[in-house]
Amino acid sequence: MVNPPTQRYAAAWRHPDSNGDWLRASSYIDIARLLERGGFDLMFLPDALAIPEDALGDVATTLASGGKGAVTLDPITVLSAVIGATRSIGLGATVSTTFLPPYAIARTLSSLDHLSAGRVAWNIVTSTTDAEARNLGLDRIPPKGQRYDRADRVVAQVLELMGTWDPAALVQDARSGVFADPSLVSRTPAPRERAAAPGPLSLPRSPQGHPVLMQAGTSPRGMQFAAKWAELVFVAADGIDGNRAVRTELRERARLAGRDPDELRVCAAIQPIAGSTRIDAVGVRDSLLAHIDEASAVRSLARLMHADAATLRLDGDAEGFLAAHRGATGSDGFEDMLAAVSAREGLTVRDLALRQSLDQLTPSPLGSGADIADELCEWQDAGAADGFVVTPALLPGSLEDFVEHVVPELRRRGRLSEPAAAPSAPTLRSRLAAKNAPRAQSPPRAQP
Ligand SMILES: Cc1cc2nc3c(=O)[nH]c(=O)nc-3n(C[C@H](O)[C@H](O)[C@H](O)COP(=O)(O)O)c2cc1C
Repeated sequence: MVNPPTQRYAAAWRHPDSNGDWLRASSYIDIARLLERGGFDLMFLPDALAIPEDALGDVATTLASGGKGAVTLDPITVLSAVIGATRSIGLGATVSTTFLPPYAIARTLSSLDHLSAGRVAWNIVTSTTDAEARNLGLDRIPPKGQRYDRADRVVAQVLELMGTWDPAALVQDARSGVFADPSLVSRTPAPRERAAAPGPLSLPRSPQGHPVLMQAGTSPRGMQFAAKWAELVFVAADGIDGNRAVRTELRERARLAGRDPDELRVCAAIQPIAGSTRIDAVGVRDSLLAHIDEASAVRSLARLMHADAATLRLDGDAEGFLAAHRGATGSDGFEDMLAAVSAREGLTVRDLALRQSLDQLTPSPLGSGADIADELCEWQDAGAADGFVVTPALLPGSLEDFVEHVVPELRRRGRLSEPAAAPSAPTLRSRLAAKNAPRAQSPPRAQP
């Protein structure tokens, strides 16, 4: 996951090891190349369509502290800037289904899939806040059930539009003078609602037909949506047991929906801290913690949970606080994870605020490359994850540390393929499918 330094680790923008050039295309090109060298499948950008507001509807505290979401670059624009500088990395764009017409989504994502020769993934979100709704012309964000119902319709329509050109429709025969064969270009099935577009799309079929579909909601309705559409699911649950439970349920729901469960890959969010030794990594973690300001962390938690920062009982128990503000984030899966970790670790509200600012309570494997590789292999072997979404605390430093220390260990164990001279398969979807091949038995950890 890649974003400006105002998304996850709260002090990223002021940490001395952060790259200050995060409004320049060159930063994202460098990161994309690093990810490609490190064997990552995808560079994925989250998105939000408003600066988060506090309980009074004000954005001042978010802006003043560089809080989560103070700055969000448009994912499609960033990914367009890295296409030409990379050749195999997947390009994951978050696009909400709640506001844009299907035709606009289909055209943008198809264009990106053409320009990248089939490397695009669409992270389908339904958006969560009133502030986003107001920026996009609605009074408030619709209830979750309605958002997911609309998402079902929008995804279906986007895929219909993307299918309006048969793969053979673009003829371009200079001799006969036929550019495209109209008999191979169709309209979408009769529109079911006024907002549906008849098409055809003003673009031939893209290399993947449609982008790889990603999703990240784990309420029952969110999982129903994922089971129907998603090829990659991004999960933030509590540790191995929590992630395994979500993965098991998602696979079962996919099976009940008539799909092969292996079509749906479940990727666990992690925020790794890698060093050349465990002591090095502990030093990095201490430095991250030292840059967090407690008062800002408390304001940020209050904003997230729509609470009044001035009345928070910092020594009170976090679980009770979360229960009292249940539903504030709009993401049930995320709040389940916060509650489970708070209960298991006995966190106070102060602890929760600091952890939220450090890593959003995302599992944070820490240590040498071998330590972290051990942990990731354990997750995979326990059926808790098919892969991982690495959410870096610092860019590019945390990703550089991961690529330098963890990637060689994963390659040595046969969990990650060696760098190839050319992309292993033509499109992102076919590269992901190739990973279904049985995994080599891991060699044991190297002796120091
Ligand atoms: C790990 C994770 C990442 C997410 N990333 C985004 C994002 O970038 N943009 C967004 O609008 N929503 C994002 N969401 C929100 C989800 O897409 C979804 O709308 C929300 O979780 C509500 O669904 P749920 O109650 O089924 O979990 C994310 C959620 C999770 C758990």
